[in-house]
Amino acid sequence: RIKIATIGGGSSYTPELIEGYIKRKDELPIGEIWLVDIEEGKEKLEIVGNLARRMVQKAGLDWEIHLTLDRREALKDADFVSTQFRVGLLDARIKDERIPLSHGVLGQETNGAGGMFKAFRTIPVILDIVKDMKELCPNAWLVNFTNPAGMVTEAVLKYGNFERVVGLCNVPIGHNMRESQLLGKTVEELQFQYAGLNHHHWHKIHDKDGNDLTEKVMDAIYENQDNIMENIKFIPFFEEQLRDLGMLPCGYHQYYYLTDDMVKKELEEFATNSTRAETVKKLEAELFEIYKNPELGEKPEQLSKRGGAYYSDAACELIASIHNDKRTDMVVSTRNNGALSDLPYDCAVEVSSIITATGPKPINFGKFPAAQRGLVQLMKAMEEVTIEAAVTGNYGKALQAFTINPLVPSGKIAKTILDEMLVAHKDHLPQF
Ligand code: NAD
Ligand code: G6P
Ligand code: MN
Ligand code: MN
Repeated sequence: RIKIATIGGGSSYTPELIEGYIKRKDELPIGEIWLVDIEEGKEKLEIVGNLARRMVQKAGLDWEIHLTLDRREALKDADFVSTQFRVGLLDARIKDERIPLSHGVLGQETNGAGGMFKAFRTIPVILDIVKDMKELCPNAWLVNFTNPAGMVTEAVLKYGNFERVVGLCNVPIGHNMRESQLLGKTVEELQFQYAGLNHHHWHKIHDKDGNDLTEKVMDAIYENQDNIMENIKFIPFFEEQLRDLGMLPCGYHQYYYLTDDMVKKELEEFATNSTRAETVKKLEAELFEIYKNPELGEKPEQLSKRGGAYYSDAACELIASIHNDKRTDMVVSTRNNGALSDLPYDCAVEVSSIITATGPKPINFGKFPAAQRGLVQLMKAMEEVTIEAAVTGNYGKALQAFTINPLVPSGKIAKTILDEMLVAHKDHLPQF
């Protein structure tokens, strides 16, 4: 039977995962689930762990749920390791959002200055986890959700020299669900092809007869004027520009295509202490109050207010696909290997892939039109430099990453924000 370890088990998202495993109980012969956290997360781990136990019990399953602060004990002989930890917790995210905004610059969890700092804090920890995995469970698969998921996955591949890693995100599933609904079809009736980077991908939609429905989805988007992401305030893309792209951007492209309006919205939140991290902090407190209820034996509805809602469909389906060599078509962060010919062979890309027992096989996409190519090549270079800075602690590299990141204005302002953030986060940046 399978042993699964989840690092950051105290996350409020854990009931998502447990629900996903329960749904797949017939194809996933689970024996043990180990939820791992750290001292600061002990109370959350206890609460969410007990809910997990009630969920499993209610489903009539005999799975053992272990709660531990000892990561090595959890990793020993694991078959799958999933990661959903947040170094520095939500207080660090508040700094990632508020410090850039205090200089009038975009503050976001996975984009711009905040995203680069989340990478600086997270990459040393993931490399440490990989070191443990090589010793304690070298054949396990690492399913990484920890953001910035694309950079974290690339760090594991390049600097951890560990191949059995897959990065996951719920954004593609969110697009699939919403856009099939807009077309009045089921996800299964459609063929989605994604290409790009984590939180920076575009996609096309066809039906199973090969007809391109991408334009039709664009029509519906302009008719409905809505968005799929709980965590991103919706501003519609300029229609002429969207039509010219010929592909559907992801929700996070709003930060790149509509930067001025997005910063304006964020500055309003900054002024009212309601940045996304501050909002999530309240939401999380509410969720844990709900989780405490000893009568509760399922994932509560309120969890869908989090941006990562429904991610268990990605995580659990991925694990079931690897375990059963299901050859499912899924969007994952994985080594490019030439699938996107505009990007380096050895980098991580987020791309439609066939999931096999030996991991994801990315589906060849080929070349991007120039408008996508220019941006994605710059973003990938920025990611490479950010990862290098995270691994080495080289200040010049960090400044380089800030300079080329399109969401951070270059010059004195970049250096000022970088310096302020290095001080604010120093407890979680041993490498700098
Ligand atoms: P959270 O703040 O609740 O953190 C989760 C847990 O991680 C906490 O209980 C915390 O104590 C623990 N933790 C912190 N450092 C740790 C360490 N070194 N080892 C073990 N545990 C540690 O965060 P959250 O909102 O649940 O999100 C968790 C992570 O998942 C974040 O990195 C977030 O960005 C990411 N996320 C990604 C996606 C995606 O699409 N890939 C979706 C949702 C969340
Ligand atoms: C989306 C992204 C995740 C991100 C989340 C934030 O789902 O795919 O990568 O972590 O939103 O949601 P939150 O509720 O924490 O703002
Ligand atoms: Mn994501
Ligand atoms: Mn810049």
